[in-house]
Amino acid sequence: MSSLYLIYMNEVERIYQLREELHQHNHRYYVLNAPEIDDQTFDFLMRELQDLEAKHPECYDENSPTMRVGSDLNKNFVQVVHKYPMLSLANTYSEAEVAEFYDRVKKSLNENFEICCEMKFDGTSISLTYEEGKLVRAVTRGDGTQGDDVTDNVKTIRSIPLVLHGKGFPKEFEIRGEILMPWLVFEQLNKEREEREEPLFANPRNAASGTLKLQNSSIVASRKLDAYLYYLLGENLPGDGHYENMQTASGWGFKVSDIMRKCSTLEEVLEFIRYWDVERKNLPVATDGVVLKVNSARQQRNLGYTAKSPRWAIAYKFQAERACTRLNKVTYQVGRTGAITPVANLDPVQLAGTVVKRASLHNADIIEGLDLHIGDMVYVEKGGEIIPKIVGVDMDARFMVGDKVRFIDKCPECGSPLTRYEGEAAHYCTNDTACPPQIKGKIEHFVSRKAMNIDGLGSETIDQFYQEGMIHTIADLYSLKAPDIARLERMGKKSALNIMEGIRVSKEVPFERVLFALGIRFVGETTAKTLAKAFRSIDALAKASLDDLMQVDEIGTRIAQSILLYFSNEKNREQIERLREAGVQLEMEELDMSEYTDKLVGKSIVISGVFAHHSRDEYKEIIEKNGGKNVGSISKKTSFILAGDNMGPAKLEKANKLGIQIMTEDEFLKLLE
Ligand code: IVH
Repeated sequence: MSSLYLIYMNEVERIYQLREELHQHNHRYYVLNAPEIDDQTFDFLMRELQDLEAKHPECYDENSPTMRVGSDLNKNFVQVVHKYPMLSLANTYSEAEVAEFYDRVKKSLNENFEICCEMKFDGTSISLTYEEGKLVRAVTRGDGTQGDDVTDNVKTIRSIPLVLHGKGFPKEFEIRGEILMPWLVFEQLNKEREEREEPLFANPRNAASGTLKLQNSSIVASRKLDAYLYYLLGENLPGDGHYENMQTASGWGFKVSDIMRKCSTLEEVLEFIRYWDVERKNLPVATDGVVLKVNSARQQRNLGYTAKSPRWAIAYKFQAERACTRLNKVTYQVGRTGAITPVANLDPVQLAGTVVKRASLHNADIIEGLDLHIGDMVYVEKGGEIIPKIVGVDMDARFMVGDKVRFIDKCPECGSPLTRYEGEAAHYCTNDTACPPQIKGKIEHFVSRKAMNIDGLGSETIDQFYQEGMIHTIADLYSLKAPDIARLERMGKKSALNIMEGIRVSKEVPFERVLFALGIRFVGETTAKTLAKAFRSIDALAKASLDDLMQVDEIGTRIAQSILLYFSNEKNREQIERLREAGVQLEMEELDMSEYTDKLVGKSIVISGVFAHHSRDEYKEIIEKNGGKNVGSISKKTSFILAGDNMGPAKLEKANKLGIQIMTEDEFLKLLE
């Protein structure tokens, strides 16, 4: 076989491998919002594929990842086709590539030109449409051709003007920009999520895009998002210069970054890049590069576009801060759900202003992909992420290294076998009733504010009780005695009585919260509410078959199977009996039941505007209590719109177009009387 043939086969194989990998990363990034690799690695893989595909046109595939720019479409929002497609920018990673871009532009234009340099904000992009000076629509990038209508959510962002200032803006235009979560807000949000034991956001970008996709815009409002606008589009723009137009737009009330510089030479461009690569660390929001744009719109038109990006602009991406250090060992942490997280223990190294000793290795696939050996010199990066990660191994420095790192097959805490659920990257400890971190985690969840809300029981106290052998299960909490607590170190009579009182009061917590407190996998607050309403008691729920469970709206196979698994475990059933004996609410109270009617069963209701008698949250609760469903956006399936004052014009137009009834607050209350 000729060596040329072997190279050919290798390249073809690589194309298929890259396509599969990139499809997966695309899905994790755009759909799940949980990327496993950083943007730079993704871009490199994509580039490799683009190059190989160009070399092998016989391998053309209309579904190759190179054929699309990704999709973050979300089925719960109305989709809108972009008037002008939302293209992405070609990325560069070196000054040499910037110089190539500059020379290309120079050659093509063959006249003087200016480059506008600005920050590349690392958030989620948005396209805003203004008509007659009013914000009418905000749409996400989606797949570049169509995106989600997130107008209601965007309206909660204070820095986005709803009505423009001054005069002189075109009758209709679009302005694009980036929605961001400032570092301080991000850190505070993650702190709160940690306290509530909710999963943390990896970086402000995920936090911003996750927030923008929330169905409840009042939560969006509480998240304090920000936005910078950087691109004006339309037919009658004020002038020819991008820089000048953005300054004018700033006068209309838009937040335009003041870090913008018009450069007339390549050296000035590079100066800007070098300066901001360092200075960006002092900015309140995340940035991941610099965007270079030919300033004149006429020249932009002359340069034109490729299929995916403009020829008149590029993004220069900053190198994530990186250090090289030795891997000493890999340890494994067990979380509340039994998820195993591998952690790299490193020789301490200085990175982006902090000393790093540990880095996350995420999961078994990442370890395998890196082909890690103990003693390897590894590259550690701190991008936008809070936890540093290992991105590669210095193969040239690999000699006399120790064993290859092999992912464990037993739980490091209790020795039970591990399992991997379909579609999940993590391994889990299967011993969910006796593995110490899982037990403690379950108890912590049980007593937490949104569950049984037992005061005075923080994670340290739970750990102390556990170490002392006083609690092994959630039901043990109800057998605690005040004198036993008071005897413990750092406890006294007062705290003991406080805890006992908290436990007593928890017996009045309604069934739906008890159901949530049990910590059944996939049964969060909302699912617990739905199940409590549908089955009314724990006994009925425990007896339900897969079919019975799946009959309930919004309960799918994953949740149904998890419930069956939970009740099939004798230890769980024992716990429930003990909770019953203790007097915990295991069925809906009569009183609760009387508040529920079926007047709105089967109705999907959109709430819009400002109300006189109740808040929007109260109306949401009223709808749910009467069997209806509150949905975020209008579609053919919407039964009616509960409209207060100042209902958004876009919503009104959509409702009229689809012929959906608009009900006033008074009419609605009358209906429920
Ligand atoms: S201009 C046609 N300017 O980077 C060019 N984009 O891959 C329109 N971005 O999707 C984009 N900061 O989300 C532009 N100052 C900036 C930017 C910026 C961040 C994002 C944007 C876009 C992506 C390009």
